[in-house]
Amino acid sequence: MNGIRFLDNQGSFALDNPENYSYLYFPLAGESGLKSAITPNLGGDSKLDQTSFLLEPVSAENLHNNRSTRNFWCLIDGEEPWSCSGASAGAEADRFTERQEASRVTGGILFHKVERIHPQDSLRAEMLSFIPKDLKTEVLMVTIHNEGQKEKNITGIAAIPIYGRSADNIRDHRNVTSMLHRIRTTKEGVVVTPTMSFDERGHQVNHRSYFVMGTVQGEAPEGFYPTVEEFLGEGGSFIHPAAVYRETQKAVKSGEVREGQEAMGALRFAKKTLRPGEHIRFIVLLGILDSCTDEDLKQQYESLNTEEKVADCLAETKAYWQKLANVNFHVQDDAMDGFLKWVCFQPFLRRLFGCSFLPYHDYGRGGRGWRDLWQDCLSLLLMEPETVRNMILNNAEGMRIDGTNATIIGAGAGEFIADRNGITRVWMDHALWPLKTILLYIHQSGDVNILLERMPYFKDGQVLRGTALDEEWDGVGLRLKTRAGEQYEGTLLEHLLVEHLTAFYEVGTHNMLQLRGADWNDALDMASERGESVAFTAAYAGNLSDLAGMLRDFAKKHSVDTVEVLEELVTLLPDKMQEWTPASRREVLRAYGEKVKHTVQGQTISIRIADLAGELDRMSAFLKESIRQQEWIAEDTEKGWFNSYYDNHGNPVERAGEDPRMMLTGQVFAIMSGTAEPEQIRRIVRAADAHLYQKEIGGYRLNTNFHELKLDMGRMFGFAYGQKENGAVFSHMTVMFAYALYQRGFVQEGYKALQTLADAALNFEKSRIYPGIPEYFAPDGRGMYHYLTGAASWYELTMVTQVFGVRGELGDLVVEPKLVKEQFDVDGNASLQLRFAGKPLEILFRNPGHLDYGAYHVGAVILNEAGMEIKDRNHFVLKREQLEKLCEKKTNRLEIWL
Ligand code: G1P
Repeated sequence: MNGIRFLDNQGSFALDNPENYSYLYFPLAGESGLKSAITPNLGGDSKLDQTSFLLEPVSAENLHNNRSTRNFWCLIDGEEPWSCSGASAGAEADRFTERQEASRVTGGILFHKVERIHPQDSLRAEMLSFIPKDLKTEVLMVTIHNEGQKEKNITGIAAIPIYGRSADNIRDHRNVTSMLHRIRTTKEGVVVTPTMSFDERGHQVNHRSYFVMGTVQGEAPEGFYPTVEEFLGEGGSFIHPAAVYRETQKAVKSGEVREGQEAMGALRFAKKTLRPGEHIRFIVLLGILDSCTDEDLKQQYESLNTEEKVADCLAETKAYWQKLANVNFHVQDDAMDGFLKWVCFQPFLRRLFGCSFLPYHDYGRGGRGWRDLWQDCLSLLLMEPETVRNMILNNAEGMRIDGTNATIIGAGAGEFIADRNGITRVWMDHALWPLKTILLYIHQSGDVNILLERMPYFKDGQVLRGTALDEEWDGVGLRLKTRAGEQYEGTLLEHLLVEHLTAFYEVGTHNMLQLRGADWNDALDMASERGESVAFTAAYAGNLSDLAGMLRDFAKKHSVDTVEVLEELVTLLPDKMQEWTPASRREVLRAYGEKVKHTVQGQTISIRIADLAGELDRMSAFLKESIRQQEWIAEDTEKGWFNSYYDNHGNPVERAGEDPRMMLTGQVFAIMSGTAEPEQIRRIVRAADAHLYQKEIGGYRLNTNFHELKLDMGRMFGFAYGQKENGAVFSHMTVMFAYALYQRGFVQEGYKALQTLADAALNFEKSRIYPGIPEYFAPDGRGMYHYLTGAASWYELTMVTQVFGVRGELGDLVVEPKLVKEQFDVDGNASLQLRFAGKPLEILFRNPGHLDYGAYHVGAVILNEAGMEIKDRNHFVLKREQLEKLCEKKTNRLEIWL
């Protein structure tokens, strides 16, 4: 029996007794920076950033260790106290017995509600949580219903410990930092304003305050327990606190001050009588304020102190997120539609959380790295295309003139950090992703002109692709200058050329691109001297020919035949290259690197587009052919694959034979780039089915078991097999595998890769995650590192542009469906809603004959009830101007009859 039920077409779902599943958590966030994780017992945490945690930071293991939840207790006259959150010693003891309380979680975009029924007492509690879009406040509205026959007298106590400091202080002066706390009780709640933000590198005066406030029926709480000690009492615990279980533990009034203790947001409300059929609502607000005068607090409180205000704010919040995640799918069944709704929302979660701040993501300090940022833009392009142009232009400023880039993007536009940990590292795949995003942008929008936009280059002390330091650098200026001391600005096109041409020349002894610090697989981080990534050599080969194609499109659209580029770049385009040997290629790179080490001349020269594109194609063809010749591993006449890497001893990592070693990454990019020939793709798929595929855990694994601690490759071999980068079904790569297969016309194979992932995620009994795609599946099928993964962007991209085949071609709309028969509903329909050229479209595919891919063709196309002319029965094109003219309605329906 599958536990999760979808409730509507907006992604809302329900699950009974969610506390019976370990490691479950749900994200909540707003646009003001507050982000929370919440569990079925209302555990989890809440923070603004690394240094400002409202609730104590949690890792996955804390989800069952910690007892400090957002608790809400009911003292019921004449009876045992009841925790509406299910976080009491009694509720825990009843777990696994017949006495266990009935409970249910309902989750939606972006709210969380837990209902719980009192075991004997006919009381039902509803605990609704969400974060208003523009506030740094989490709302908890607790409703208690008396569904029995007897009157009940109830005293509510909200009990939320306030951590109020940096995540670093968990293991760095936890106790000392509690001494910084200044705690006061106000009329409505408890406020903590630490005196300093503790950091031995330089303590800062702190102005931030953390609060818990509350109200019931317009009344402020009667009393407070402002410190953990006062709430728990000597010897108490969060699941059996003295404040709840001992009458002698008295609450204090407003106007009290406490210093230097762990703080507690515990509010005791006045006793209320609930007659049968009645309910009562408590509103609890927990949040952070940058300045905290009484006026600020009052304003915060008054914006949400009635149930009507909370209801309005919730409706607004839901509408806001639904409007943002405006791509909707209808495919075979409700579960799949609901799953896809969450997948399309996940890229927003990564925008809000970065790659940190959910229980499994207990690393990093917020923000996203270079590759994740560019890939997340892929899906944002389908949902918020207007914002992406600027993001592209701003992010391109992070590129260095040697083709590497700053790896961390700061909060503001144009803010870059070379490396989070101050280590000089070059990830050799980084230059690949911007072009993928920019190409999608150009095709979706038709805006080829973006290539001529100018922007500076990032500059710091690292030169020659992170292998040397620029001793002349002044240590401050973060933009590349000309010899004359002016800031140099080059076109976006030039930035892309720099990235790709330099990458081409940085090779190892097998003439494949060097692995350097790692590639996409962050865990291949121990082969920086001799390691080579064949996988990404193929990927760059694909990009080089895409770049050539883009240049030709540009020339055609603008009727120009030359482009201006930085003069030094010509070093990377030697007229007559004798032969591309590892030594000669490295020499070209060195010569260029030396020229641009500190500054550039600042002169540009004009190059013929035909020559440039021709040279890029030649490089691409050379790489592809080298891989085909050198890296193919034939297992037998049926199966084979490409070697993906060389290790730090210079040996190929993969092999056929008795104990075969196969990695998915090399296959994905060989297919995506056009390096693998169709017959090779067939053999790769058979080999992947034989060596990597395991249906129950999501399908294609990242690699076979090497049974070796391969210290000449990377930390991944230290992970247990089947975890994370060592052979898990790692969703991101599996989705890219599916994408590549679809793109090359291997539709059934692509569908299998994509659908198996969705099936595994939706199989709650094994995956144990709320709807969405996890980063990977563990060996037992559990979904791991849920929500924050690049897999979501790629899943959405694959569904829209490949499966439904709806995409732009230099701004025109193309529809080329690759849906298989299983993806249509019982009536033979499948649909996609999205915006294209600023117009809301519903594209409805009608397949009344339930034909499979390959058997159907586009038979008729109707746009807003008008029949359209079809020139190609597989590939329907609607010119942008025509689309803009014909799509004037609020929703425009494009019907495709197959
Ligand atoms: C994560 C990282 C990504 C990296 C990948 C493999 O993937 O965010 O940069 O390429 O691991 O090491 P994600 O969770 O985004 O799928």
